Amino acid sequence: MFFKNFALAATLVSLVKGHPATIEKRLLFDPVCVQISKAVSSATDVYYLGDLRYGSDMAHWASSSSQLAKCTVRPGIAADVGIILGILGSTRTPFAVKGGGHTSNPGFSSTPGVHIAMSRFSGVTYDAASQTAVIGAGLVWDDVYAALEPHNVNVVGGRVSGVGVAGFTLGGGYSWKTNQYGLTVDTITAFELVKPSGAVVTVTETSDPDLFFGLKGGMNNFGIVTRFTLKTFPQTKVWGGLITFTFPHIPAVAAATAEFSATVTDAKASIITTYNFLLGQPGISLLVFYDGPTPPAGIFDKFLAIPHLTKDISTRSFLSLVKSSPSDATYGQRGIFNTVSLTQYTPSLLDAILNETVFWGSHLSLKSGSFISYDVEPFLPSLFSHGNSSAYPPNRAVGLSPFNIYYAWSLELFDSHFHKAAHESAARIRNLAISEGQGVLGAAVYPNYAIFDTPLEGMYGENVATLQSLKATIDPTNIMGLAGGFKF
Ligand SMILES: Cc1cc2nc3c(=O)[nH]c(=O)nc-3n(C[C@H](O)[C@H](O)[C@H](O)COP(=O)(O)OP(=O)(O)OC[C@H]3O[C@@H](n4cnc5c(N)ncnc54)[C@H](O)[C@@H]3O)c2cc1C
Ligand SMILES: *[C@@H]1O[C@H](CO)[C@@H](O)[C@H](O)[C@H]1NC(C)=O
Ligand SMILES: *[C@@H]1O[C@H](CO)[C@@H](O)[C@H](O)[C@H]1NC(C)=O
Repeated sequence: MFFKNFALAATLVSLVKGHPATIEKRLLFDPVCVQISKAVSSATDVYYLGDLRYGSDMAHWASSSSQLAKCTVRPGIAADVGIILGILGSTRTPFAVKGGGHTSNPGFSSTPGVHIAMSRFSGVTYDAASQTAVIGAGLVWDDVYAALEPHNVNVVGGRVSGVGVAGFTLGGGYSWKTNQYGLTVDTITAFELVKPSGAVVTVTETSDPDLFFGLKGGMNNFGIVTRFTLKTFPQTKVWGGLITFTFPHIPAVAAATAEFSATVTDAKASIITTYNFLLGQPGISLLVFYDGPTPPAGIFDKFLAIPHLTKDISTRSFLSLVKSSPSDATYGQRGIFNTVSLTQYTPSLLDAILNETVFWGSHLSLKSGSFISYDVEPFLPSLFSHGNSSAYPPNRAVGLSPFNIYYAWSLELFDSHFHKAAHESAARIRNLAISEGQGVLGAAVYPNYAIFDTPLEGMYGENVATLQSLKATIDPTNIMGLAGGFKF
């Protein structure tokens, strides 16, 4: 917490320093913010620069995803969200919607205009009869797991600590439980949505199949979601945690990862092998997961036999496993993701990933790079077989595993170097994968890992035209176009 507050203060200071003229304007109460605060109910508040609540509203996991807003607004009820959208639309004011603030893309949940923080939508209501849970759009997954744990049930959500429910779910959602139940979007039964018109509606497969389809991966294009209803599944204790390895043991971890990717068919088993370049050397952080108290012999034995630097593996609660990852180690630094979709992680692809780690790790450390990493995330080829058609993935015929590139650095001056490197590195892995048969030409990439200038076709494939016409119907005056993100 101290670290987070410190990082937040540093972000605010750097934003303020960079823009003295902007700051002067921010200190005046903006007329649109004043109009909003007069129109909404007492459940909703507006905050300005200088207020601690403004500071925490505009904070992000990656500081490069933050901007100074005219004000922040915390709506308390869905009807107020509708009133706010009405004012933003009629004044054509740029705005942002922030859930957990974990976007890796600049401007996706930040704005120089009005910043809407969804944190007051924080309820979790479990219904045993329907085996579903209604979950507020302002929560992070840790809170959801904590609330469901006493009922011995769980949902298909985030794998590491701190990630927001809303952005994660609206982009797709790759979970520890995806091999068993699909992406998070495959487990949604209803959205409570505030449409750009201001109407508060419940969207289900039967009430509005087109909008239900669009919301499953279509991000913030169709309005602001206030609650998600997700299917729940029985949850026992799980097994796993974090193991770290130093440079000499990388070949052994790579061999075990390739074997896992090629041979393990138990849907309860999952791993993330992260190659990282830290303090001048590559190493690996490995997260292992089994959805049960003890994994069957054979699945993880190779990994466990390799000499480790640190090891935190046990039979534990799902929440404890999620908290075992060091996901906030770079909190508050600048950051970018980019991604490639793969059918399998082969030894030669893993060799190339190690080479990228060392190559970009050495280059980018000269540009204030602090953490250069590559997440190897093998899923079963059947992962898309658990759900119906959705905005993402546009094609469920071939199972694709996301490969994620993540760079962290400190100086804004070097932003473009990191963005360019993330493009070049992804292209290199994609081309190699295609030439070796582990990539699929034109395969859709995951919107929540894709860099900001990824073309829509690259993520939504043949769904683009359908999503564009749905957007035009739901939002004829393009109010959601005033918010950042991938836009239909
Ligand atoms: C450390 C870390 C770990 C991650 N792990 C995973 C993982 O295991 N699996 C996975 O699939 N992804 C993962 N991701 C990616 C993650 O899905 C995205 O970062 C996602 O954007 C996070 O959602 P958020 O609510 O925290 O983000 P935010 O930055 O708050 O929002 C992201 C986008 O969603 C929109 N949005 C937010 N709330 C609403 C709303 N209520 N209505 C409409 N639009 C809204 C925003 O406008 C923005 O465009 C991870 C990211 C990080 C940084
Ligand atoms: C390592 O990666 C760099 C950058 O992508 C590339 O130029 C180089 O050819 C690679 N080396 C090997 C042996 O693949
Ligand atoms: C898929 O759609 C059918 C028909 O609308 C429905 O009965 C079924 O429950 C859906 N499956 C999932 C996983 O959502």
